[in-house]
Amino acid sequence: MTRRFLFLLGSSRSDGNTELLARRAAEQLPGDVEQRWLSLAEHPLPDFTDLRRDSDHLLPPAGSNVALLLDATLAATDIVIASPLYWYSVSGLTKRYLDYWSGWLRTPGIDFKTTMAGRTLWGVTALAHEEQEVADPLVDTLNHSAAYMRMRFGGVLLGNGSRRGDVLEDADALARAKTFFAQEPPLARFPYESATV
Ligand SMILES: Cc1cc2nc3c(=O)[nH]c(=O)nc-3n(C[C@H](O)[C@H](O)[C@H](O)COP(=O)(O)O)c2cc1C
Repeated sequence: MTRRFLFLLGSSRSDGNTELLARRAAEQLPGDVEQRWLSLAEHPLPDFTDLRRDSDHLLPPAGSNVALLLDATLAATDIVIASPLYWYSVSGLTKRYLDYWSGWLRTPGIDFKTTMAGRTLWGVTALAHEEQEVADPLVDTLNHSAAYMRMRFGGVLLGNGSRRGDVLEDADALARAKTFFAQEPPLARFPYESATV
């Protein structure tokens, strides 16, 4: 099956470190892998409303940003959350997109959970802090979301930087970017699950 990568840019500024690092990693993808890049800042989603128990979630109106992101998500074999580290987790733009997954899980006719199962979630993140373990909450958010969805999880490519372009000075991150997407990621597991289950 042709791989189709969807890169979701979650920074609130353009041309930031996260996008630079994600583009370095994407350069290594084989030519027959499709790439689609969408900025969540350029396609803003309205506040998410939890409609569980009140009414069904409906398919979003054609032409809306919600429909665009839903269709792009359903079409992707690989979803790359390219979010800067904001307050030790994903950015607000990214979190809002993930909140929509809850609605899509309850939208009739799209079989969101079945469709996403077996596909791969990846993360790319830039952070100002030198010690990368401060990004563990973000890593856990993405791992656990993938586990809940029965998706594979490719881990998070981390790079250091504060001002735009700083990440290009992070030689370790650029080296990791060269092979990041070459892995065969395992199915994601919650920490309490045994790898042999
Ligand atoms: C709202 C906000 C929150 C941030 N929170 C953190 C943080 O918790 N830890 C950290 O190391 N850097 C933090 N930073 C710094 C960014 O992660 C860093 O500047 C990164 O390079 C931004 O990525 P970008 O260039 O892709 O936007 C924060 C920046 C902003 C604007």
